Amino acid sequence: MRLYARFLDCLGAKKLEIMLDNLGNLERTHTCGELREEDAGSEAVLMGWVAKTRDLGNFTFVDLRDRYGVTQVVFAEAFSKEAHEKVKTLRGEYVIAVRGDVVEREGTHNPKLATGDVEVRAKELFILNTAKTTPFQLEVAGKENVVNEDTRLKHRYLDLRRKSLQDNLIVRANVLRKMRDYMDSVGFLELETPILLRSTPEGARDFIVPSRIQPGKFFALPQSPQILKQITMISGFDKYYQIARCFRDEDLRADRQPEFTQLDIEMSFANREMVFRVMEGVMASVFSLTGAEFEVPFPRMTYRDAMRRYGVDKPDVRFGMELQDLTGEFSDTDFAPFASVVESDGEIKCVVAKGCSGYSRKILDGLQDFVKRYGAGGLAWIKLEDGGTKSSLMKPLGENKISSLAEKAGAEKGDAVFIVAGRKSIVAASLGALRKEIAKNEDLIPDGVYKPLWVTEFPMFEYNEDTGNYDPMHHPFTSLMDEDIPLFKRAVEDGETDLLGQIRARAYDIVINGYEIGSGSIRVHQSAIQELIFKAQGLTKERAKERFGFFLDALEYGTPPHGGFAAGIDRVIMILCGTENIRDVLAFPKTASAQDLMMDSPGDVDKSQLDELGLSVTVDPEKNAGD
Ligand code: AMO
Repeated sequence: MRLYARFLDCLGAKKLEIMLDNLGNLERTHTCGELREEDAGSEAVLMGWVAKTRDLGNFTFVDLRDRYGVTQVVFAEAFSKEAHEKVKTLRGEYVIAVRGDVVEREGTHNPKLATGDVEVRAKELFILNTAKTTPFQLEVAGKENVVNEDTRLKHRYLDLRRKSLQDNLIVRANVLRKMRDYMDSVGFLELETPILLRSTPEGARDFIVPSRIQPGKFFALPQSPQILKQITMISGFDKYYQIARCFRDEDLRADRQPEFTQLDIEMSFANREMVFRVMEGVMASVFSLTGAEFEVPFPRMTYRDAMRRYGVDKPDVRFGMELQDLTGEFSDTDFAPFASVVESDGEIKCVVAKGCSGYSRKILDGLQDFVKRYGAGGLAWIKLEDGGTKSSLMKPLGENKISSLAEKAGAEKGDAVFIVAGRKSIVAASLGALRKEIAKNEDLIPDGVYKPLWVTEFPMFEYNEDTGNYDPMHHPFTSLMDEDIPLFKRAVEDGETDLLGQIRARAYDIVINGYEIGSGSIRVHQSAIQELIFKAQGLTKERAKERFGFFLDALEYGTPPHGGFAAGIDRVIMILCGTENIRDVLAFPKTASAQDLMMDSPGDVDKSQLDELGLSVTVDPEKNAGD
């Protein structure tokens, strides 16, 4: 049966000049990535999108594409007069079906295509649908055409026709399957928790959803299923996991989305080692997809050591360039800028860049600007050039001191030393980032290598300068290290609040190649201690009861000791796919300003919907757009 333009006209659609064929009972025999030499001599029915046409007069070649690959289809009068005429009406991205004979290519094998040993000689062509001219070409000169990301996101359905994105989503599906298989194999039960919840604190803002049936009340979307998974332990489920969608209203970065997915686990009667073994097992299983070496058990490093050696709590240990402490070299310096840093309990640290003594003034200025973004006042340097040593500190410090600093830093001829002085947190952040920046620029980071690491003994609290409170660094359900409980008691019971900054938690992260892949902890399982932690973070008893009363109650009904972990699945997939952009591993991601450009969301709602919810909008969305 054929559909004519007139038929579409009655629906108010634009007049089509070509006729469309109906799929009817036609069925695909093969995908476009499937045919091989041994299929020659058989008949095939292929369906897909027109990737490219080449009209050579007597012959017309069509590259037919689906998600499995590309097959060359040849049209000629000798194979079918009707199909050969019809093929002239095809344009890029038309959807077609072809019935034809599979023939071995003679002398024109295409080694770049998996199907490149054969072609299909078309006996019948069915045009199943047309396509408008696409806003960007998917391929140019045989290569994917990666245009402006906003354009691609607006037309995500076209962008997703690109092989590299399709491959990423296939990796995603494989990772999810591996995770489920592994968790099932070690006796974990998949439990689903609701999306409409009360707030679960993970340090971000909540996305809230108004209730129509309870006007003036709101649900919060889960920042994680943290409290609920702990409650499943109280209920006796003992080994829980979930592929959990989480929602956090926070500033977005290259590895953050407002909506993301975790492999969330919780275990009863578990110590840290048991949680580590499960997570190492599941990660090894997932990374086996790459065929690359993946070291298990993971090495461990305390938070303190990570900050000292790498300046960050998620060190990329695929390369060296550790931070060196030079503070001791300046204990009695006359050089005022460094003397004041030492006096105010700051630090002077450096990194050595191997073979970088030839850095030009322009590069040095660029690095100077780079560290300033992290709050550093400046970047001092020493270059151990063949012709002699140069340094931005030569004048104030003199040649002898510069040589001894370079020696202390372990620098050799041909190297450059970069020094930052200032507050400890600024020195760590700026040198930690500089280390990575130089390693990237100098190509020091090996490809295809995965270096996992446990970072342990995180601080329980961090000082919040805006509120003057100590916020839990992980979340408030994390238990404290036994050794630090006396300090905690003094902080809470004797009002020595400053001590909160020194207390360590039984919390741990997995870091791979510089990405925080996941976090977990051994939890508080006693209501009284949980109450004390809420108190320490500045929550009044009333407020704690109002927000978490149900949980404090639940803890009192026989809570087993328990612990768990959540891995950021999107980040695992980013590493496996070798991309630094989280949007590349999601079918329908949001932009950095948290918008879906294809659906144009977030969007307006009708006044009637707002009325029903008892809400009114007091901001002008047009005026605030893009703020
Ligand atoms: P946490 O908040 O550390 O811990 O989250 C666990 C992991 O989830 C990933 N992640 C994200 N990925 C993409 N976009 C985001 N916005 C985003 N935020 C977090 C990270 C992170 O390490 N409930 C605890 C876990 C637990 O204690 O069991 C939690 O959610 O890879």
